Amino acid sequence: MKLQRHSEHQRLIGIIGHKLAHTLSPVMHTTAFKKLNLDFTYGVMDVTPEMLPNLIASMRALNFRGANVTVPYKQDVIPLVDEVSEEAKVIGAVNTIVNNSGRLVGYNTDAHGVYISLAYYADSIKNNHVVIFGAGGAARATVYAVAKFFSPKRIMIVNRTLENAKKMAEEFGPKFKLTKFFFTNDPETTTRELEVAALIINTTSVGMKPLVNFHPLPTNAKVQKNQIVLDIVYNPIDTALLQLAAGAGAKVVSGVEMLLGQGAKAFELFTHHEFPMHAAREAVVKELTQDMHQ
Ligand code: ATR
Repeated sequence: MKLQRHSEHQRLIGIIGHKLAHTLSPVMHTTAFKKLNLDFTYGVMDVTPEMLPNLIASMRALNFRGANVTVPYKQDVIPLVDEVSEEAKVIGAVNTIVNNSGRLVGYNTDAHGVYISLAYYADSIKNNHVVIFGAGGAARATVYAVAKFFSPKRIMIVNRTLENAKKMAEEFGPKFKLTKFFFTNDPETTTRELEVAALIINTTSVGMKPLVNFHPLPTNAKVQKNQIVLDIVYNPIDTALLQLAAGAGAKVVSGVEMLLGQGAKAFELFTHHEFPMHAAREAVVKELTQDMHQ
């Protein structure tokens, strides 16, 4: 079959980050391009902080179609692009750059990833209680998406460093009138809030390979059957938190869904084609399963 060409010469896309050994974006996007016979090349652009402005400039010079952006540069690219979407501005992070005829536009598709992961449970989340662990970059996109798309009654941000949770609650609180924001680092308060939560989300790195035996819940805290649990950690797929939740009969949502959801939105911004979700999921799960046995 003949490959479809995108607008003239804009064939290059890649992921920008640093120490990127385990990124799944190349396999996810390459599989999707292949499935749709799209003529894009996807590369890994691992640069030091000093080289970041040069890299962004070279995206213009080489007429890149776009890029995904990951740690540690989701904030750093903001002043380097020409325009930032409203959503990315509120979240304070750009994870996707699209080159529109020389004009670089920054988006945040992580929020869409959270939305897609939880959309099936929208009715259970609306007007209910949510507990979110973490107050870093991933938490910002998550808190934004949960408040914006599902309007819970309250969001409790739980974080090791109380000050970071407080800052987030104070910043997002005034932006979402239907949701009240609270914060804590106290295990007892957290345990009480977990008892009444409809949705529990981990946005911290606790449970990520190699620390696979850990989860962020206080000792003795329990998950219940009627609760929804999302862990945005996807390596391993079956985190300690999701194992605990599944053991309690709760509804579990893997971080793989969030990874695919943010990738799907970025892919659609790059190509204007619908993301072949099934093929991409298969490729990503295969990669993660192989990684587990290494
Ligand atoms: P990301 O962009 O992945 O969110 P980040 O901005 O560095 O990364 O945020 C990491 C989050 O995980 C923070 O909420 C961090 O808590 P602190 O604010 O106290 O640093 C949390 N985190 C990381 N390691 C943790 C650990 N071992 N125990 C508890 N929380 C942890």
